[in-house]
Amino acid sequence: MFEGFARVWTPVVLSEQLGTQKPLGTEIAGTPVVLFRDKQGRASALVDRCPHRGVKLSLGLVKDGCVECPFHGWQFDGQGHACLVPWNPDAKLSNLDAIALPTREIAGQVWVFTDPFEPPSEEPHVLEVLSRKGVRVSGMFIEWETHWTRAMENMLDWPHLPFVHRSTIGRAMRDKSASRMDIVSEERPWGLHTHIQIDGKKDGEATLDLRWPNQMNLDLSNNGRLMIMMVACVPVGPTRTRMLLTMARDFMTSPMFDWAFNWSNKKIASEDKLVVESSFPAEIPRAGDEKSVRTDAPTLHFRKRYFAELHGSRAGKRSLPVAG
Ligand code: FES
Ligand SMILES: [Fe+2]
Repeated sequence: MFEGFARVWTPVVLSEQLGTQKPLGTEIAGTPVVLFRDKQGRASALVDRCPHRGVKLSLGLVKDGCVECPFHGWQFDGQGHACLVPWNPDAKLSNLDAIALPTREIAGQVWVFTDPFEPPSEEPHVLEVLSRKGVRVSGMFIEWETHWTRAMENMLDWPHLPFVHRSTIGRAMRDKSASRMDIVSEERPWGLHTHIQIDGKKDGEATLDLRWPNQMNLDLSNNGRLMIMMVACVPVGPTRTRMLLTMARDFMTSPMFDWAFNWSNKKIASEDKLVVESSFPAEIPRAGDEKSVRTDAPTLHFRKRYFAELHGSRAGKRSLPVAG
C-alpha cells in the first residue's frame, strides 16, 4: 500500500471538492482511497475497497455520514467502522470494518496520512499564515502525466524560470542568464528554505520552500502584501500526478477574485507541463545517473532525501489489488 510514498502526510484534494451526497474516489501512490464527510461534516478517508468483496466504495453513496457500498449496501463511518450490514441484523459489526486513514482538513485542503496501520507521529506541517484571519486561500487542480518526483523537482528549480516562464514569473530574470546564480538554502524542520543571489547580490524578495515531501511554497509577498503560491504534487500512479495549485493572499480577498488567481496559477503550471512530462525516466533516477551542476542543489537535496526515506517504502505487508 502507498508504495514509494508511505508514512507521510499529503494534501489530497481541495475541501470544496468534498460534497455530502457522493463519495470522492481517488488514488494516492497507486492505492485507491475514498473521501467523504462523516455525520459531523468531518473529512474522512478510507482505503477504497469494501472489506466484503473488494468493490470500490467510491461507486456508492454517502448516507447519513456513512459511505454505502454499491454492491450489498454495507455502510461504514468516517473511522471505517461498519455501521449497517443489510439482511444480517445478527452480524458482528466490529469484525467487518473497512480500513480508515488519518485525515485532516486545514486551510481549504484535505490531508491524508499514508499509513492506516500505525498512527502518525506528528501533524501535517502547514504554513501558519494560511489559517490567519484576513487571508484568502483559493485553489484548483490539474493533472500531469509524470511521476510526482519529476513534478516536485521542477517546483524546486530556480534556473528554469527565465526559460520555461519567460513571459510570466521568469520575465525579470530573462536577461540575467549569463550571470552567476547562487542558491542559498537552509534546512528547516519542515524541509528546505531557499532564495537566490545573482552575481553575489540577493535577487528580489522571493523565497522558495520545499515542505517535505511534496509541497512547494513560492513566497512572492511584496510591499507589505502577502502572496504565496503553493503547489502540492500528489502521487496518483507511476506516471500520474495531481497538482493542487493554491494561492494565499491578503488583498483582493473576495472569492469573486479567485478565478483570476486560479487562472494565473494554471497558466504558469501549463508552461511547465509539456517540458516536465517529457523527462525520461518518469521517476527521478539517482543523482549519479544524470548530469548536474551547482544550481541543481535544491533538487539534489530532494532527490537524496527521496531515495533515503520514500523510494521503496510501503505501508503494511500486503499489497492491495489496484486494477478495476
Ligand atoms: S462488496 Fe461491499 S457490501 Fe458487498
Ligand atoms: Fe516552473
